Amino acid sequence: MLQKKDILGLRDMSKNEIISILEVAKEMKLRINDGNLRKNELKGKSIVTLFYENSTRTRTSFALAGKYLGATVQDLGISTSSVSKGESLIDTGKTLDQMGIDIIVMRNSFTGAPHILAKNVDAHVINAGDGSNEHPTQALLDLYTILDYKKHFEGLKVAIIGDISHSRVARSNVFGLKKLGADITLAGPSTLIKNSELLGVKTTDNVIEAIKDSDVVMGLRIQFERQKTISFPGLSEYREFFGINKEILKYAKDDVLIMHPGPVNRGIEFSTEVIESKNSVINIQVKNGVAIRMAILKLLIEGGKKQ
Ligand code: CP
Repeated sequence: MLQKKDILGLRDMSKNEIISILEVAKEMKLRINDGNLRKNELKGKSIVTLFYENSTRTRTSFALAGKYLGATVQDLGISTSSVSKGESLIDTGKTLDQMGIDIIVMRNSFTGAPHILAKNVDAHVINAGDGSNEHPTQALLDLYTILDYKKHFEGLKVAIIGDISHSRVARSNVFGLKKLGADITLAGPSTLIKNSELLGVKTTDNVIEAIKDSDVVMGLRIQFERQKTISFPGLSEYREFFGINKEILKYAKDDVLIMHPGPVNRGIEFSTEVIESKNSVINIQVKNGVAIRMAILKLLIEGGKKQ
């Protein structure tokens, strides 16, 4: 059971809390696979998705997860809401509180925005990505996928490759994987792994060194939208030195898992051949995202402390 009011990041989540979410997600995945989606644990509850940045996977999977549990789910389209008239985040949150919304799922380009909202509303707040800080539900679905295939985390060699400096997915995964005992290496152009050693894991600008004997290779998109200046000469250079193709993948273990949070830039982070290979679980990650989000919604409503 989760005793938290909000899900803001994996930095402040315990190993036991992570494991309990993964266990409930396993039950939810069975329900999805069996088409058994009529349990309605969240009947009478309401969820709002509040996305100040674009999303396909996270917003849709939260909406589906809520509906599969019997909740009412409403998307607050930012461009058509009163946010476009200048209403502040806190006033928007307090307005939703007055309507009796139980859970607000929020994505925002500013680090800490969900934390501010959480302090000012009665509703549970779930961080669906805040700037370059955290994306906890993505990391949880990644952890679920890794556990499903590898059955353990202790000593597992995980290489995370790409734009580490701007990646909330990398940060949340590092916090979670470290708690669970994995051996993590972060790799990318030196301009995109700046200060990554502060996360307390190995870093390198040599992709082969990162991939050698790895159990999991997680690619990350170059986040041009968060870069004030372009941090490397161009995409073709990136592909040449950091793009993962079949040849480079020979350095990893034969049963390496190929992962990516999406959206993927085909031919940049991974070649299409790698994306379509038997080692790729990129589409399975998306499916697992619904199960993880069902688990989080259920656990928050059942056990989360309100203010
Ligand atoms: N991985 C992820 O957060 O994807 P979306 O931006 O499509 O939600």
